[in-house]
Amino acid sequence: MRTPTPAYLIDLAVIRKNCEALSELKARTGCRIVQALKAFALPAVFPLLRDHLDGCCASGLWEAQLAREFFGETVLTCGPVYRDTDTDLFNLSSHIVFNSLSHWQHWRHYALNHPRYQKGIISYGLRLNPQRSTGSPPIYDPCRQGSRLGALASSLKNADLEGLSGCHFHSLCDQNSDALAKTLEALDLHFGALLRRPQIRWLNMGGGHALTRPDYDQQLLVDLIKQSRDCYHLDEIWLEPGEAPVLNAGSLHSTVLDIFQSGKETVAILDVSATAHMPDVLEMPYRPNLTLDGVPSLERGTHRYQLGGSTCLAGDIIGPYSFHRPLKIGDRLIFQDMAQYTMVKTTYFNGIQHPSITLRDESGNEQMIRSFDYEDFKRRLM
Ligand SMILES: Cc1ncc(COP(=O)(O)O)c(C=O)c1O
Repeated sequence: MRTPTPAYLIDLAVIRKNCEALSELKARTGCRIVQALKAFALPAVFPLLRDHLDGCCASGLWEAQLAREFFGETVLTCGPVYRDTDTDLFNLSSHIVFNSLSHWQHWRHYALNHPRYQKGIISYGLRLNPQRSTGSPPIYDPCRQGSRLGALASSLKNADLEGLSGCHFHSLCDQNSDALAKTLEALDLHFGALLRRPQIRWLNMGGGHALTRPDYDQQLLVDLIKQSRDCYHLDEIWLEPGEAPVLNAGSLHSTVLDIFQSGKETVAILDVSATAHMPDVLEMPYRPNLTLDGVPSLERGTHRYQLGGSTCLAGDIIGPYSFHRPLKIGDRLIFQDMAQYTMVKTTYFNGIQHPSITLRDESGNEQMIRSFDYEDFKRRLM
């Protein structure tokens, strides 16, 4: 039976292939790789990820809790800020990264007196801002002017950094290792002296590395990791990709519900929404690939439709797509590469049907693991 729409379908065979590539990279570089839960956080897939990766990267308390409950003990927490009530982070994390010197100073006394620190089970790092944009759109560029992400070199002059043993940066977005090379050059320029201090034992190079894309230059990554380890005498180098482990491993299945003419446009309304179910389409913005009858859509052609979502937002538009035949109500359109930054970011906006989640196992069997109903919508509000 075909999965009822709307539904995300997650393909475990693709995740395994990605993970095997990451395992090989770990072996070649000696670095450690964790899954960034902000991108993808389905506990049902954690056993497969755990076979290949070293743990999780959490952005805050609840992700750290999920990581500890379902994945394991290696939890690298890195958020822009922690609430005073987030002290459980110190029980859940193996590493905590502070986003600014002032936030480290705020937490420092607590952090250094924590029993897990005194037993050597947890260590602390500072997020650095490499101050070198390498091509991400501004919404995904932590190096933009006035950024709130990561300490600037100017904020660290003469700072007392006792108690910190790691540094972190994250400034890439779906990029190749040439962008990492530029970032590392800038990092050395601004923070080389800090990274050479003997107290700094680890460097976390964040996410945004397109490690599992066929055009990714792995040899350059191998060289850069080796150079960084040697140059700064580090024990560990970490990468925390969100997208790479699940690249091309998910699709969003939708049905055409209405077709009509609006001026020159033929509009097709679907039972999914850009804003509620694939927000990066609007935020990045980007154009997802999709198929009809297994045939990829065309850039242009006679059967052209403006695909719209089913919320009231005027801009809930996925974009203009052309097809090999005219669309009809009831057709199934399948959006590709939808595992990352979708299920973790969806909303119940307008109270429309929320996509269920189905797993396809490695023998091709499909099992719905989560469906949503009115009670889920209501529970968010009362
Ligand atoms: C601090 C940090 N680490 C890791 C990631 C994961 O990045 P990606 O999914 O692009 O690999 C992000 C994404 O925003 C991030 O902000």
